[in-house]
Amino acid sequence: MSTEIRTKRVTTRDIRARKGGEPVVVLTAYTTPMARLLDPHVDILLVGDSLGMVLYGMDTTLGVTLEMMIAHGRAVVRGSERALVVVDMPFGSTQESPARAFRNCARVLAETGAAAIKLEGGREMAETIRFLTQRGVPVMAHIGLKPQMVNTAGGFRAQGRAEDEAAAIRGDARAVADAGAFCVVVEGTVEGVARALTNEIAIPTIGIGASPACDGQVLVSDDILGLFSDFTPKFVKRYADLGPIVGDAVATYAAEVRARTFPTLEHCFGVAKPREPRS
Ligand code: KIV
Repeated sequence: MSTEIRTKRVTTRDIRARKGGEPVVVLTAYTTPMARLLDPHVDILLVGDSLGMVLYGMDTTLGVTLEMMIAHGRAVVRGSERALVVVDMPFGSTQESPARAFRNCARVLAETGAAAIKLEGGREMAETIRFLTQRGVPVMAHIGLKPQMVNTAGGFRAQGRAEDEAAAIRGDARAVADAGAFCVVVEGTVEGVARALTNEIAIPTIGIGASPACDGQVLVSDDILGLFSDFTPKFVKRYADLGPIVGDAVATYAAEVRARTFPTLEHCFGVAKPREPRS
């Protein structure tokens, strides 16, 4: 009997092997219905901690908990069969120590069924990334603009304009790649730096506001679909404007309920069908 483990899902090895090849397509998903819609089209479904802002109306991602990530991670795994599901580790769950990070990541993988986690951080997280990957936790790293650092960074702004900042981001990319990450998200980073670090490291770079030089791209699904409009970063392209479509549909429903034109008999139980006239 073969001992080969078969999986129809994209694996972290598949993604790692895409370096310099066909671009890796990544979108965020937080729920089962959205995962079902996106799954046939993407390589990775990222359960991002951006859900704090997009779904829960928070101002930053800092209030997102491990329990929230586990609940949404499980929902996305349930709604997908092909894409690799990666769950973001929330603020405070990986920074304290490698051992604490391992316990939290192991919980996420065991309780969601996802195959990898994402964590924010460069050189400062390299030891933790090595600890995790050597113990069976595949890691997608996240460098450049790191939303969980909003308070120390003093806001969200493009990274890598100054020479020392550019050198630091390139150092971060090398550190997370050497530590064993299977790919790295590069967020809000100037084109030249994103291009340089993509050429320097052996794992795929997944850009978000980091130029087409990256090996793949990620965006927040609600941004590209026009379902989240609290603010729209420069790097977002809107592929559909579903907000007004939802608004129109709901306005029509409300008007019909008020006018008693919905429901009609076809939406009711226990109503005899009118007889077909005899010919
Ligand atoms: O939380 C998130 O959705 C992310 C992506 C935007 C990269 O980190």
